Amino acid sequence: MTHKIALVTGASSGIGEALTRELISKNWTVIGLARRSEKLSAIKNELGSPFIPMACDVADTSDIQRVCQNIVGQGLCPTLFFLNAGIAGGKVIENPESFVLKMHEEIMAVNYFGVLTFVECFEKPCLNNGGAHFIVTSSVNAIFAAPTGSAYCASKAAISKAFESLSLTYFGRNLRFSSIYTGPVATDGLTGRWPFTWSPEKMAKYMCKFSELKKSRGYPSLFYFIISHLLRVLPDGLVMRILKKMT
Ligand SMILES: NC(=O)c1ccc[n+]([C@@H]2O[C@H](COP(=O)([O-])OP(=O)(O)OC[C@H]3O[C@@H](n4cnc5c(N)ncnc54)[C@H](OP(=O)(O)O)[C@@H]3O)[C@@H](O)[C@H]2O)c1
Repeated sequence: MTHKIALVTGASSGIGEALTRELISKNWTVIGLARRSEKLSAIKNELGSPFIPMACDVADTSDIQRVCQNIVGQGLCPTLFFLNAGIAGGKVIENPESFVLKMHEEIMAVNYFGVLTFVECFEKPCLNNGGAHFIVTSSVNAIFAAPTGSAYCASKAAISKAFESLSLTYFGRNLRFSSIYTGPVATDGLTGRWPFTWSPEKMAKYMCKFSELKKSRGYPSLFYFIISHLLRVLPDGLVMRILKKMT
């Protein structure tokens, strides 16, 4: 069995693509998943054999199961999972005049169930293979829920809480679970202009280093760690004034 195999979801762009490049530069083999196979093929042409692209729609449980069976069937078992694919950016902004429940269902399908299905598929193969580290790309919006983002914020809070619990559930059994509470990163998944925005490459370096630590929570940006906790406890009127000034 090959060593140092990582699985990255959302490998076709943004943080996931940068993470793929960073991992490969550190001698990992990366199984990269996303829907846009043309993007994955272009990355494959550039990176060659250490990159194994697989088309997968993480909103579709049976598609994830098919891909996971394919991976295990090839004798591959990742020890590092960056469960990073997510619906974010302009697609998650809600209309303040009209609440749409369907948006919650669509976002949870990707950002919550689209993460946990990998845990279900790989729990036993990874336990039998000596262990693995599952890392989810969460958001500071799991801490502070911004206006017009009820579905996105709830999805990130839910997956982080699930991972917190799993981290304790599997304590001492070689399965580790961590959430990274990401601040703004300059990708297609970012709307608006925010202070202290990171590049995807800086984020990828942070995430790779983080994966070597035995920590269940990562806060890449001190500024957004402080501001997200502060905004949670201030009165709504003041919060709205601060948000207007920040954007
Ligand atoms: N950028 C930020 O400021 C920021 C802040 C906090 C958290 N995050 C989180 O970071 C993660 C990555 O986002 P990003 O900023 O790098 O944005 P991005 O460039 O838009 O990347 C999103 C990735 O997710 C994949 N994806 C989306 N839906 C999918 C689906 N149904 N099946 C498979 N793959 C899917 C996309 O691939 P395909 O379209 O090819 O399928 C793409 O590779 C997300 O979870 C996001 O919530 C981002």
